[in-house]
Amino acid sequence: MSKVWFITGAGSGLGTGIAQAALRGGDRVVATGRNLEKVRNVYPDVAQENIAFVQLDVANEAQAKAAVDEAMKRFGRIDVLVNNAGYSLLGNFEQMTTAEIQQQFATNFYGVVHLMHAVLPVMRRQRSGHIINISSVAGVVGLKHCAAYGATKFAVEGLSLSVATEVEQFGIKITVVEPGFFRTDLLDAQNVRWVSKVVEDYAAEGTAEDMWSKYSGTQPNDPAKLGEALVKIATMQHPPKIFAAGSDALSTITPAIEERLQDMRVHETLSKGMEGSF
Ligand SMILES: NC(=O)c1ccc[n+]([C@@H]2O[C@H](COP(=O)([O-])OP(=O)(O)OC[C@H]3O[C@@H](n4cnc5c(N)ncnc54)[C@H](OP(=O)(O)O)[C@@H]3O)[C@@H](O)[C@H]2O)c1
Repeated sequence: MSKVWFITGAGSGLGTGIAQAALRGGDRVVATGRNLEKVRNVYPDVAQENIAFVQLDVANEAQAKAAVDEAMKRFGRIDVLVNNAGYSLLGNFEQMTTAEIQQQFATNFYGVVHLMHAVLPVMRRQRSGHIINISSVAGVVGLKHCAAYGATKFAVEGLSLSVATEVEQFGIKITVVEPGFFRTDLLDAQNVRWVSKVVEDYAAEGTAEDMWSKYSGTQPNDPAKLGEALVKIATMQHPPKIFAAGSDALSTITPAIEERLQDMRVHETLSKGMEGSF
């Protein structure tokens, strides 16, 4: 049966790759974004009955609710919610202001909260649905310059895994996606935000911009292929709870998990024996 996908940040990058794959698979898409003209321009040839364009800044809770209501008016159901919208604040933690970190959370974490709050009642009524939350390798491994970005993605992972245990009883599945480097606009100068404070001690190793901007336009992975993979995952009876996307993601995440297991084994004796004699 054809599904209805609701995708945030559908006007570029992974959001577009996922939406186009869903449309190719015969599904319908609610393509949302802050700049509707930009989103519309990405899908010039899609038949009107298969796509709805809906205004949505995910940081705005009221807009999230209104966008879900509009999607329901248009298609009457939401089968797959893809929380994809996001941006990256990059630089050393000491060079970030609290306001910059709060803004990063407002989009990357609270955006997901707003959409899950708005969509879960719909999926509960349907007794079915699949929420796909786009995290990152930085959501499972601590990466230099990614303190705030990584914190938002770790938070998305914790949120997803916890809520999954609550809504499974209603037939609702949740998958967290940890993409490696995909060729998108994420590191584009217009989208990435660099830390604003100068702390001289960090100057010798160069700026975050020096380190990260060279990846812009050279990322190895193709958003269209992630889209194809997620369309397959959305058909699975037992989809993965966590899905690492890209060989680079696997080669960073796998050793990090193995190192954690190794640490746990090495310190097992210290970890055990915490029971008190109350
Ligand atoms: N590309 C990668 O290598 C990579 C790796 C790991 C994780 N990710 C994650 O993948 C997701 C998509 O990023 P991308 O790589 O596709 O980058 P992108 O091309 O820059 O796309 C990001 C999208 O998010 C939208 N967005 C940003 N803030 C928003 C807000 N407040 N409300 C609504 N939409 C907003 C942008 O819309 P505007 O056009 O309005 O700015 C844009 O469409 C992000 O969550 C990112 O963290 C990407």
